[in-house]
Amino acid sequence: MSNNMNKAVDIQINPRGQLQHLLSTEGLPRELIIEILDRAEDFLPAGGRRIQSSGLLSGRTVMNLFFEPSTRTRTTFELAAKRLSADVLNLFMESSSRTKGETDLDTLLTLQAMHVDMLVIRHPDNGATTEFAQAVGEDVAILNAGDGSNAHPTQALLDAFTIRRHKPDFTQLKVAIVGDVLHSRVAHSNIHALKTLGVPDIRIVAPPALMLEGADTLGVQTYHDLATGIKDADVVMTLRLQHERMHEQRVTSLQDYHRDYGLTRSNLAPAADDAIIMHPGPINRGVEIDPEVAYGERAVVLEQVTNGIAVRMAVMAMIVAARD
Ligand code: NCD
Repeated sequence: MSNNMNKAVDIQINPRGQLQHLLSTEGLPRELIIEILDRAEDFLPAGGRRIQSSGLLSGRTVMNLFFEPSTRTRTTFELAAKRLSADVLNLFMESSSRTKGETDLDTLLTLQAMHVDMLVIRHPDNGATTEFAQAVGEDVAILNAGDGSNAHPTQALLDAFTIRRHKPDFTQLKVAIVGDVLHSRVAHSNIHALKTLGVPDIRIVAPPALMLEGADTLGVQTYHDLATGIKDADVVMTLRLQHERMHEQRVTSLQDYHRDYGLTRSNLAPAADDAIIMHPGPINRGVEIDPEVAYGERAVVLEQVTNGIAVRMAVMAMIVAARD
Protein backbone atom coordinates (compact mmCIF):
# COMPACT_ATOMS: atom_id res chain seq x y z
CA MET A 1 0.00 0.00 0.00
CA SER A 2 1.36 3.45 -0.88
CA ASN A 3 2.01 6.16 1.69
CA ASN A 4 -0.93 8.08 0.30
CA MET A 5 -3.31 5.30 1.18
CA ASN A 6 -1.93 5.02 4.71
CA LYS A 7 -2.53 8.73 5.16
CA ALA A 8 -6.24 8.08 4.59
CA VAL A 9 -6.45 7.23 8.27
CA ASP A 10 -4.87 10.52 9.34
CA ILE A 11 -6.91 12.85 7.22
CA GLN A 12 -10.37 11.30 7.44
CA ILE A 13 -10.72 12.17 11.13
CA ASN A 14 -10.48 15.70 12.52
CA PRO A 15 -8.58 16.63 15.72
CA ARG A 16 -11.82 16.21 17.71
CA GLY A 17 -12.04 12.58 16.55
CA GLN A 18 -14.96 13.22 14.18
CA LEU A 19 -15.35 12.05 10.61
CA GLN A 20 -14.35 14.73 8.09
CA HIS A 21 -13.86 12.56 4.99
CA LEU A 22 -14.66 8.87 4.51
CA LEU A 23 -11.79 7.26 2.62
CA SER A 24 -11.20 3.85 4.16
CA THR A 25 -12.40 1.54 6.92
CA GLU A 26 -8.75 0.87 7.70
CA GLY A 27 -8.00 2.74 10.90
CA LEU A 28 -11.59 3.86 11.39
CA PRO A 29 -12.13 3.60 15.18
CA ARG A 30 -14.72 1.13 16.46
CA GLU A 31 -16.70 3.90 18.18
CA LEU A 32 -17.09 5.78 14.89
CA ILE A 33 -18.20 2.64 13.04
CA ILE A 34 -20.76 1.89 15.75
CA GLU A 35 -21.96 5.50 15.66
CA ILE A 36 -22.48 5.23 11.87
CA LEU A 37 -24.44 1.97 12.27
CA ASP A 38 -26.56 3.42 15.09
CA ARG A 39 -27.29 6.61 13.13
CA ALA A 40 -28.31 4.46 10.16
CA GLU A 41 -30.82 2.68 12.43
CA ASP A 42 -32.48 6.05 13.04
CA PHE A 43 -32.89 6.57 9.29
CA LEU A 44 -34.21 3.05 8.64
CA PRO A 45 -35.69 1.68 11.86
CA ALA A 46 -35.77 -2.12 12.05
CA GLY A 47 -39.19 -3.29 10.91
CA GLY A 48 -39.83 0.12 9.34
CA ARG A 49 -40.29 0.08 5.61
CA ARG A 50 -39.61 3.72 4.90
CA ILE A 51 -36.47 5.80 5.07
CA GLN A 52 -36.87 8.67 7.54
CA SER A 53 -36.23 11.95 5.74
CA SER A 54 -34.51 14.89 7.41
CA GLY A 55 -33.43 18.46 6.74
CA LEU A 56 -29.87 17.92 8.03
CA LEU A 57 -28.24 18.70 4.66
CA SER A 58 -30.60 21.49 3.66
CA GLY A 59 -28.67 24.17 1.75
CA ARG A 60 -25.72 21.82 1.17
CA THR A 61 -24.55 20.55 -2.18
CA VAL A 62 -23.45 16.99 -2.81
CA MET A 63 -21.87 16.06 -6.10
CA ASN A 64 -21.46 12.55 -7.45
CA LEU A 65 -18.32 12.14 -9.51
CA PHE A 66 -18.05 8.65 -10.93
CA PHE A 67 -15.10 7.76 -13.16
CA GLU A 68 -16.29 4.13 -13.28
CA PRO A 69 -19.69 2.54 -13.88
CA SER A 70 -22.10 2.13 -10.97
CA THR A 71 -25.73 1.24 -10.41
CA ARG A 72 -26.29 0.83 -6.68
CA THR A 73 -23.64 3.04 -5.15
CA ARG A 74 -24.30 6.17 -7.21
CA THR A 75 -28.07 6.04 -6.98
CA THR A 76 -28.17 5.23 -3.26
CA PHE A 77 -25.72 8.07 -2.56
CA GLU A 78 -28.04 10.34 -4.55
CA LEU A 79 -31.14 9.12 -2.73
CA ALA A 80 -29.39 9.42 0.62
CA ALA A 81 -28.40 13.03 -0.07
CA LYS A 82 -31.92 13.87 -1.26
CA ARG A 83 -33.52 12.26 1.81
CA LEU A 84 -31.31 14.60 3.85
CA SER A 85 -32.57 17.56 1.76
CA ALA A 86 -29.26 18.32 0.00
CA ASP A 87 -29.01 19.68 -3.53
CA VAL A 88 -27.50 16.87 -5.60
CA LEU A 89 -25.52 17.12 -8.81
CA ASN A 90 -24.21 14.29 -10.95
CA LEU A 91 -21.24 14.82 -13.22
CA PHE A 92 -21.10 12.18 -15.90
CA MET A 93 -17.43 11.81 -16.70
CA GLU A 94 -17.96 10.42 -20.19
CA SER A 95 -19.59 13.73 -21.18
CA SER A 96 -17.41 16.03 -19.02
CA SER A 97 -14.44 18.20 -20.02
CA ARG A 98 -12.25 15.25 -19.16
CA THR A 99 -12.87 14.20 -22.74
CA LYS A 100 -11.22 17.51 -23.76
CA GLY A 101 -8.11 16.66 -21.78
CA GLU A 102 -8.88 18.29 -18.43
CA THR A 103 -7.04 16.47 -15.65
CA ASP A 104 -8.91 14.97 -12.69
CA LEU A 105 -7.20 17.43 -10.35
CA ASP A 106 -8.26 20.44 -12.43
CA THR A 107 -11.81 19.08 -12.51
CA LEU A 108 -11.70 18.77 -8.74
CA LEU A 109 -10.43 22.32 -8.20
CA THR A 110 -13.18 23.59 -10.50
CA LEU A 111 -15.85 21.82 -8.46
CA GLN A 112 -14.30 23.10 -5.25
CA ALA A 113 -14.70 26.66 -6.62
CA MET A 114 -18.46 26.01 -6.86
CA HIS A 115 -18.51 25.56 -3.05
CA VAL A 116 -19.70 22.01 -3.25
CA ASP A 117 -19.87 20.61 0.30
CA MET A 118 -19.32 16.93 -0.47
CA LEU A 119 -17.87 15.04 -3.37
CA VAL A 120 -18.74 11.38 -3.70
CA ILE A 121 -16.01 9.91 -5.88
CA ARG A 122 -15.47 6.56 -7.57
CA HIS A 123 -12.17 6.20 -9.41
CA PRO A 124 -10.28 3.32 -11.03
CA ASP A 125 -6.94 4.19 -9.35
CA ASN A 126 -6.01 2.90 -5.90
CA GLY A 127 -5.54 5.85 -3.55
CA ALA A 128 -7.12 8.43 -5.88
CA THR A 129 -9.76 9.58 -3.39
CA THR A 130 -7.13 10.07 -0.67
CA GLU A 131 -5.09 12.20 -3.06
CA PHE A 132 -8.20 14.25 -3.83
CA ALA A 133 -8.87 14.73 -0.11
CA GLN A 134 -5.30 15.96 0.35
CA ALA A 135 -5.74 18.35 -2.57
CA VAL A 136 -9.01 19.92 -1.38
CA GLY A 137 -7.94 20.30 2.23
CA GLU A 138 -10.73 20.98 4.69
CA ASP A 139 -13.07 22.81 2.32
CA VAL A 140 -14.81 19.84 0.76
CA ALA A 141 -15.58 16.45 2.26
CA ILE A 142 -14.56 13.52 0.07
CA LEU A 143 -16.51 10.27 0.28
CA ASN A 144 -14.81 7.32 -1.32
CA ALA A 145 -17.33 5.37 -3.41
CA GLY A 146 -14.64 2.88 -4.47
CA ASP A 147 -11.02 3.45 -5.52
CA GLY A 148 -9.54 0.75 -7.73
CA SER A 149 -9.14 -2.49 -5.80
CA ASN A 150 -8.25 -0.57 -2.64
CA ALA A 151 -11.31 0.44 -0.63
CA HIS A 152 -15.08 0.83 -0.69
CA PRO A 153 -15.84 1.98 2.84
CA THR A 154 -19.59 2.66 2.58
CA GLN A 155 -20.11 -0.82 1.13
CA ALA A 156 -18.33 -2.37 4.11
CA LEU A 157 -20.36 -0.23 6.51
CA LEU A 158 -23.66 -1.20 4.90
CA ASP A 159 -22.53 -4.82 4.99
CA ALA A 160 -21.75 -4.52 8.71
CA PHE A 161 -25.14 -2.87 9.28
CA THR A 162 -26.88 -5.71 7.41
CA ILE A 163 -24.94 -8.38 9.32
CA ARG A 164 -25.73 -6.73 12.68
CA ARG A 165 -29.45 -6.76 11.91
CA HIS A 166 -29.35 -10.54 11.51
CA LYS A 167 -26.48 -11.47 13.83
CA PRO A 168 -26.23 -8.78 16.52
CA ASP A 169 -23.04 -9.98 18.27
CA PHE A 170 -20.00 -9.49 16.02
CA THR A 171 -17.76 -11.20 18.58
CA GLN A 172 -19.47 -14.56 18.00
CA LEU A 173 -19.31 -14.64 14.21
CA LYS A 174 -17.68 -16.75 11.57
CA VAL A 175 -17.62 -14.81 8.30
CA ALA A 176 -16.47 -16.31 5.00
CA ILE A 177 -15.60 -14.00 2.09
CA VAL A 178 -15.53 -16.01 -1.12
CA GLY A 179 -14.31 -15.40 -4.67
CA ASP A 180 -12.25 -12.73 -6.42
CA VAL A 181 -10.79 -11.24 -3.26
CA LEU A 182 -7.60 -10.18 -5.02
CA HIS A 183 -9.36 -7.44 -6.98
CA SER A 184 -12.08 -6.61 -4.48
CA ARG A 185 -12.15 -3.26 -2.72
CA VAL A 186 -15.30 -4.56 -1.03
CA ALA A 187 -13.38 -7.45 0.54
CA HIS A 188 -10.51 -5.21 1.66
CA SER A 189 -12.86 -2.74 3.36
CA ASN A 190 -14.94 -5.51 4.90
CA ILE A 191 -11.92 -7.21 6.42
CA HIS A 192 -10.83 -3.99 8.17
CA ALA A 193 -14.34 -3.14 9.36
CA LEU A 194 -15.16 -6.64 10.61
CA LYS A 195 -11.81 -6.96 12.42
CA THR A 196 -12.39 -3.63 14.14
CA LEU A 197 -15.88 -4.74 15.13
CA GLY A 198 -14.38 -7.81 16.81
CA VAL A 199 -15.28 -10.64 14.42
CA PRO A 200 -12.96 -13.41 15.63
CA ASP A 201 -13.15 -15.75 12.63
CA ILE A 202 -12.77 -14.25 9.15
CA ARG A 203 -12.05 -16.70 6.35
CA ILE A 204 -11.03 -15.85 2.82
CA VAL A 205 -11.94 -18.53 0.29
CA ALA A 206 -10.51 -18.24 -3.22
CA PRO A 207 -8.56 -20.10 -5.86
CA PRO A 208 -4.80 -19.42 -5.65
CA ALA A 209 -4.92 -17.02 -8.63
CA LEU A 210 -7.51 -14.79 -6.92
CA MET A 211 -6.29 -15.02 -3.31
CA LEU A 212 -5.91 -11.94 -1.13
CA GLU A 213 -2.38 -10.58 -0.83
CA GLY A 214 -0.96 -10.15 2.69
CA ALA A 215 -3.64 -12.26 4.39
CA ASP A 216 -1.24 -13.14 7.23
CA THR A 217 -0.74 -9.48 8.19
CA LEU A 218 -4.51 -8.93 8.17
CA GLY A 219 -5.19 -11.75 10.64
CA VAL A 220 -7.55 -13.75 8.45
CA GLN A 221 -7.55 -17.45 7.55
CA THR A 222 -7.24 -18.48 3.90
CA TYR A 223 -8.77 -21.48 2.18
CA HIS A 224 -8.76 -22.79 -1.35
CA ASP A 225 -11.48 -25.33 -0.67
CA LEU A 226 -14.99 -23.88 -0.48
CA ALA A 227 -16.55 -26.60 1.71
CA THR A 228 -13.82 -26.26 4.36
CA GLY A 229 -13.80 -22.47 4.18
CA ILE A 230 -17.52 -21.99 4.70
CA LYS A 231 -17.98 -24.78 7.28
CA ASP A 232 -20.38 -23.53 9.99
CA ALA A 233 -20.06 -19.94 8.71
CA ASP A 234 -22.75 -17.53 9.93
CA VAL A 235 -22.20 -15.19 7.02
CA VAL A 236 -21.16 -16.15 3.49
CA MET A 237 -20.31 -13.17 1.30
CA THR A 238 -19.37 -13.75 -2.30
CA LEU A 239 -17.83 -11.35 -4.80
CA ARG A 240 -18.09 -10.72 -8.50
CA LEU A 241 -15.35 -12.02 -10.76
CA GLN A 242 -13.88 -8.64 -11.73
CA HIS A 243 -12.65 -9.28 -15.23
CA GLU A 244 -12.02 -5.58 -15.83
CA ARG A 245 -9.28 -5.60 -13.17
CA MET A 246 -7.56 -8.77 -14.41
CA HIS A 247 -4.47 -7.94 -16.45
CA GLU A 248 -3.98 -11.59 -17.26
CA GLN A 249 -6.35 -14.51 -17.46
CA ARG A 250 -6.88 -15.78 -13.93
CA VAL A 251 -9.88 -18.03 -14.45
CA THR A 252 -9.66 -20.52 -17.28
CA SER A 253 -13.19 -21.91 -17.16
CA LEU A 254 -16.28 -20.17 -15.77
CA GLN A 255 -17.96 -23.58 -15.51
CA ASP A 256 -15.16 -24.92 -13.32
CA TYR A 257 -15.24 -21.76 -11.24
CA HIS A 258 -18.99 -22.13 -10.73
CA ARG A 259 -18.55 -25.79 -9.75
CA ASP A 260 -15.71 -25.10 -7.28
CA TYR A 261 -16.56 -21.64 -5.89
CA GLY A 262 -20.10 -20.81 -7.02
CA LEU A 263 -22.73 -20.34 -4.31
CA THR A 264 -25.19 -23.02 -5.30
CA ARG A 265 -27.67 -24.64 -2.94
CA SER A 266 -25.55 -27.78 -2.70
CA ASN A 267 -22.20 -25.98 -2.36
CA LEU A 268 -23.64 -24.00 0.56
CA ALA A 269 -24.56 -27.10 2.59
CA PRO A 270 -21.54 -26.91 4.98
CA ALA A 271 -22.43 -23.34 6.12
CA ALA A 272 -24.54 -22.87 9.25
CA ASP A 273 -28.24 -23.59 8.64
CA ASP A 274 -29.14 -20.00 9.45
CA ALA A 275 -26.25 -18.43 7.54
CA ILE A 276 -27.02 -15.25 5.64
CA ILE A 277 -25.84 -14.95 2.04
CA MET A 278 -24.42 -11.63 0.86
CA HIS A 279 -23.22 -10.14 -2.43
CA PRO A 280 -22.45 -6.45 -3.03
CA GLY A 281 -23.76 -6.66 -6.60
CA PRO A 282 -23.68 -6.60 -9.53
CA ILE A 283 -23.99 -10.38 -9.68
CA ASN A 284 -22.85 -12.65 -12.47
CA ARG A 285 -25.73 -15.12 -12.50
CA GLY A 286 -24.57 -18.70 -12.69
CA VAL A 287 -20.91 -17.79 -12.14
CA GLU A 288 -20.19 -16.81 -8.52
CA ILE A 289 -23.81 -17.26 -7.39
CA ASP A 290 -27.00 -18.90 -8.62
CA PRO A 291 -30.08 -16.68 -8.85
CA GLU A 292 -32.06 -19.05 -6.63
CA VAL A 293 -29.43 -18.45 -3.92
CA ALA A 294 -29.05 -14.70 -4.56
CA TYR A 295 -32.79 -14.22 -4.14
CA GLY A 296 -33.46 -17.22 -1.89
CA GLU A 297 -34.73 -17.25 1.68
CA ARG A 298 -31.28 -16.84 3.28
CA ALA A 299 -30.11 -14.08 0.92
CA VAL A 300 -29.88 -10.46 2.07
CA VAL A 301 -28.62 -9.10 -1.26
CA LEU A 302 -31.52 -6.68 -1.79
CA GLU A 303 -31.58 -5.70 1.88
CA GLN A 304 -27.97 -4.63 1.40
CA VAL A 305 -29.15 -2.20 -1.28
CA THR A 306 -31.86 -0.66 0.92
CA ASN A 307 -29.55 -0.47 3.92
CA GLY A 308 -27.01 1.36 1.77
CA ILE A 309 -29.30 4.40 1.66
CA ALA A 310 -29.53 4.62 5.47
CA VAL A 311 -25.81 4.04 5.99
CA ARG A 312 -24.86 6.68 3.41
CA MET A 313 -27.29 9.09 5.07
CA ALA A 314 -25.60 8.42 8.42
CA VAL A 315 -22.13 9.07 7.02
CA MET A 316 -23.17 12.33 5.34
CA ALA A 317 -25.05 13.53 8.43
CA MET A 318 -22.03 12.87 10.66
CA ILE A 319 -19.61 14.60 8.29
CA VAL A 320 -21.80 17.70 8.05
CA ALA A 321 -22.19 17.81 11.84
CA ALA A 322 -18.40 17.58 12.25
CA ARG A 323 -17.88 20.50 9.89
CA ASP A 324 -20.35 22.85 11.60
C1 NCD B 1 -18.86 -3.28 -6.09
C2 NCD B 1 -17.88 -2.26 -6.55
O1 NCD B 1 -18.12 -1.47 -7.46
O2 NCD B 1 -16.82 -2.26 -5.95
N1 NCD B 1 -20.18 -2.99 -6.32
C3 NCD B 1 -20.85 -2.09 -5.52
O3 NCD B 1 -20.39 -1.01 -5.27
N2 NCD B 1 -22.02 -2.49 -5.02
C4 NCD B 1 -18.49 -4.65 -6.42
C5 NCD B 1 -18.24 -5.02 -7.86
O4 NCD B 1 -18.12 -4.18 -8.73
O5 NCD B 1 -18.16 -6.20 -8.10
